[in-house]
Amino acid sequence: MAKPATLLTFFLLTLFLVSTTFGFRFSDVVNDDPEQQLKQCRKECRQRQPGEKECPQRCEQQYREQTKQRHGGGEREGEDPEHQLERCREGCRQRKQQHQSECEDWCEQQYKEQKGQGRGGDRDRENPQRESSEEQERNNPYFFDEQSFTHRVRTEEGNIRALKRFSMQSNLLQGIDNYRLVILEANPNTFIIPHHCDAEIVLYVVRGRGNINILKENNKESYNIRRGDILRINAGATVFLINKDNNEKLYVAKFLQSVATSGHYREFFGAGGEDPESFYRSFSNDVLEAAFKTPRDRLEKLFGQQRKGAIIKASQEQIRTIERHASSAKGSHQWPFGESKGPFNLLNKQPTHSNNYGKLWEADADDYKPLQDLDVQVAFANISRGGMHLPFYNSKSAKVVLVVQGTGYFEMACPHVWSQRRQSEQGGRQSEQEKEEEEQQHEGPVRYQRVRSRLSPNTGFVVPAGHPVVTVASGNENLQMLCFEVNAWDNHKYYLAGKKNILRQMEKEEKELSFSSPAKEIDEIFNAQGEEAFAPGPEQLQERQEGGSHGPLESILDFAGF
Ligand code: CU
Repeated sequence: MAKPATLLTFFLLTLFLVSTTFGFRFSDVVNDDPEQQLKQCRKECRQRQPGEKECPQRCEQQYREQTKQRHGGGEREGEDPEHQLERCREGCRQRKQQHQSECEDWCEQQYKEQKGQGRGGDRDRENPQRESSEEQERNNPYFFDEQSFTHRVRTEEGNIRALKRFSMQSNLLQGIDNYRLVILEANPNTFIIPHHCDAEIVLYVVRGRGNINILKENNKESYNIRRGDILRINAGATVFLINKDNNEKLYVAKFLQSVATSGHYREFFGAGGEDPESFYRSFSNDVLEAAFKTPRDRLEKLFGQQRKGAIIKASQEQIRTIERHASSAKGSHQWPFGESKGPFNLLNKQPTHSNNYGKLWEADADDYKPLQDLDVQVAFANISRGGMHLPFYNSKSAKVVLVVQGTGYFEMACPHVWSQRRQSEQGGRQSEQEKEEEEQQHEGPVRYQRVRSRLSPNTGFVVPAGHPVVTVASGNENLQMLCFEVNAWDNHKYYLAGKKNILRQMEKEEKELSFSSPAKEIDEIFNAQGEEAFAPGPEQLQERQEGGSHGPLESILDFAGF
């Protein structure tokens, strides 16, 4: 039997010989960039066994283990719930595709329960008014980070990710629990396999250009789609898409309203095979044989072929052919002249507000009739770098916001979080009677909690009706946000600062009584901000005051219309 030391020497020697013989450096073997390794591994799979599925799966498995190690993975006592959630989801992703979303829902449930237990625990919550901004961010039930999105579909060519159910995040969001936010991303020259959803859908094209096809009882509607397009898709309509661009990804945001089970929705793939799994496969063989009047071996073959997933590569030739059908489709791009059901381009519309500090586009049922029955408005805000969207509130809409580009932050005043935290501080050691008294108190004098979160692409937040909110773009780049607003009909946006500040309409006596200050002083403050809707943000204002004159960056921004 060989001694361990001999074995080690032999191993090292072999490794040395192999590495010198084949001319690669040792660092290549242990290249510590997992993404690179994943890419390389997949490439080798394609070359060796094209179309084979297990090989790339092994690559992904390796990749997951590696990244897990990197983030200090493994079972850990006292691991924080966010990490556990992520680890649980990873576990789901390693399982079979068709159970993945249920599995991830389960993880979220666990996470929520755990967080609930942690409430009122060891965290110091002595003074909610005087906490760090970090604390404000951690306790913000209205904010959704990138990890709040769960993969519904994930292939090499793209993915579909759904934001977790609003009620899973907080019971304060129960009012919009029937809505879901979903992102679809597809690589250049790809095909997204036909499917339908048990949800009403409003779709917005954030980036890229493609085609969308909707299969109806007697015809197929086919439209070209591009950046800024809004399109309504009825629940249950079978839809497929292509990204026809050779370079740009297609990035589509979907706002869903469930029609079956509140807050839940599912994709149904008919076309497909093993992956995406075709629902035809659920029927028994004799039923299928009778339905298709075809022997089972041929059916098994048909519904067993597709293994590449729901988003797949298409050749340019195939895409050209599909596109030809689309451009000849009736009604495409006739809006607003014909009775077309085709897309409506939001960015072609005059912005509701526009100045050097930002632009806001809004489309409601008056612009695009199909939004009417859902009572949804779609808006797109582009806040110039360093600028801010002045404080305002919506009279009756709740707003679901997705950040699509840039960085910044939002701040909101919320009486609910304030009273919830009061309750949780006293939670556990309260009698029923005390709780009741407490609740009555909350119906009484109102206090507010400032909630705040940093914003970056693929994060989101919710602004409930009546809540004053401010968004600020960082000094580096414009902050671009897509907003879906529910309860849109007869909603009013009330500004709380700037030229359109509703309080400016009050008479002298009314102001003096309200603020217990001389009217002159109030007017000076209310009239100082001459901008409407968008204005220089805190940083930009400070720079201006310090510099006295415009700095070089600002002059450029001003010149460029931003
Ligand atoms: Cu609130």
